[in-house]
Amino acid sequence: MKFDIITLFPEMFSAIKEEGVIARAIKKSIISITTWQLRDFSLNKYKNVDDKSYGGGAGMVMQVQPIRDCIIEIKKQNPKTKVIYLSPQGKKLDQDLVEKLTTHDSLTMLCGRYEGIDERVIENDIDYEVSIGDYVISGGELAAMVVIDAISRRLPNVLGNEDSLKDSFTDNLLDYPHYTRPEVVDGHSVPEVLLSGNQAKIDAWRLEQSIKRTKQKRPDLKV
Ligand SMILES: C[S@@+](CC[C@H](N)C(=O)[O-])C[C@H]1O[C@@H](n2cnc3c(N)ncnc32)[C@H](O)[C@@H]1O
Repeated sequence: MKFDIITLFPEMFSAIKEEGVIARAIKKSIISITTWQLRDFSLNKYKNVDDKSYGGGAGMVMQVQPIRDCIIEIKKQNPKTKVIYLSPQGKKLDQDLVEKLTTHDSLTMLCGRYEGIDERVIENDIDYEVSIGDYVISGGELAAMVVIDAISRRLPNVLGNEDSLKDSFTDNLLDYPHYTRPEVVDGHSVPEVLLSGNQAKIDAWRLEQSIKRTKQKRPDLKV
């Protein structure tokens, strides 16, 4: 999977490029992340990419031209890439949308700043508008990293033993409770079944726990 990121803050992506699961996926060449500095596409001698909002208001708006030129450049290299605008107004990210996005070979993430981007980019140049939740953050970069992480861990050979298939939201269920050593903490013991060595019983207990906690914590998931 190839990720191209359009951003004013490419350095932020070192957080996932250099550490953890994503860094390992890059080393194994399962994914690649290329950042594009939007200012490089500005035709302005000051490298501005934003301007005042028509109609007034305090915030600045990201302009069409640098974004469009950057997308054109990315598409020269990846004609089939799908462009995602990270936006609080987009479709809320959930596991179903993550699974849908994993079907593409190449995704371009457009990270907004300020008041956001000129509406005409959204109308003409975007395939998906994706939100990471009903709250507003200062820029699309953190949101893009969330999306990249959620997609990457579902790609073959990124996690060992297909571990992500047991994570929460698989089959609409939350994950079961996990315990590690020591066996007793503050008088609370690990459930006996987990020490039984009987894998069939353990699997049945875990499924039962998953169903129970999904009903308790997330009744909206409809088990
Ligand atoms: C300060 S926000 C702009 C918010 C915009 N004025 C609004 O109210 O809809 C700047 C940028 O952060 C990103 N952003 C903010 N909240 C987000 C969210 N919940 N999900 C994804 N991206 C978000 C978007 O790229 C957005 O263009």
